[in-house]
Amino acid sequence: MTEITVDNVFKSYAMTPVLERVSVTLPDHEFCTILGPSGAGKSTMLRILLSMETPTSGQVLIDGVPIDDEPQPDRGVVFQRYSVFPHMTALKNVMIGPELKAGNWFTRPLGAKRRQLRNRAASLLEEVGLGHAIDKFPSQLSGGMQQRLAIAQAMIMEPKVLLLDEPFGALDPATKRSMHGLILDLWERNKMTIVMVTHDIQEAFTLGTRILMIDKVRDDPHAPAAYGSTITHDLKLDPNRRPPLAVVTEDTMDASEDDPHSMRAIFARWTENAGDAVLEKGGAALKAHAD
Ligand SMILES: Nc1ncnc2c1ncn2[C@@H]1O[C@H](COP(=O)(O)OP(=O)(O)OP(=O)(O)O)[C@@H](O)[C@H]1O
Ligand SMILES: [Mg+2]
Repeated sequence: MTEITVDNVFKSYAMTPVLERVSVTLPDHEFCTILGPSGAGKSTMLRILLSMETPTSGQVLIDGVPIDDEPQPDRGVVFQRYSVFPHMTALKNVMIGPELKAGNWFTRPLGAKRRQLRNRAASLLEEVGLGHAIDKFPSQLSGGMQQRLAIAQAMIMEPKVLLLDEPFGALDPATKRSMHGLILDLWERNKMTIVMVTHDIQEAFTLGTRILMIDKVRDDPHAPAAYGSTITHDLKLDPNRRPPLAVVTEDTMDASEDDPHSMRAIFARWTENAGDAVLEKGGAALKAHAD
């Protein structure tokens, strides 16, 4: 059981608010995708979930218990790029997490324990499709292979929660599709909860059982930094939707999208397109509309 509760989180840097009134509960085994314009605070939200940042006010709880002040192995993370160690082979990159967790030189795994760890790392690399590359260094791997390695590196810690910040943002469409298959497979088999930031609306609607859009509801054109972002849209999608959702052709939303109205319009079209797969709609934009 892993339920994540974000309880009225505010985050400011100096006097500038980034996030305000962010509240959401993600039940066990949710695949939550987060969309929103550049600078909205998506990575900040993810870093708060990881304990790399602390909220200015409010709190995050896992299964009812406030999260630790320090990043813990129960929450794994994969960033867009460069999260693997360049001077270590693929195998060593995957083994390093448990080795560091074991502590110092004297407590690190040796002998049979080390062989066990090595085998586990090798089979994880096999699982993410890197069985042939265990002795390669990251510079010898393609972008997609490096992201597979980063995922294996996170998975060996058996995290209850996997946090992904645009992990496939730098990959070409075909590699991206194969990564989607991999991540859905790992999510199903390991029953973890995933929170994934993306700029790609198709990716968000393909993978997510829950889709959040983070954006400003209040805007002051004379003081653009006066307000923070909150959850403007919160969609629950049927995890068993079959067939998969159709793609809204030509309708993309990415980092270059700086007009919030068009971003919301695109989101609305995708929501409509999802039809009966949408189980529930929420979020501040909906409430503001109802007021
Ligand atoms: N450590 C920090 N100190 C000061 N300001 C910060 C810090 N981290 C983030 N910010 C500011 O907070 C805002 C949100 O940043 P964040 O990286 O969370 O956005 P984002 O939604 O992930 O954007 P992108 O889509 O471009 O990755 C930005 O205005 C950024 O400048
Ligand atoms: Mg970001």
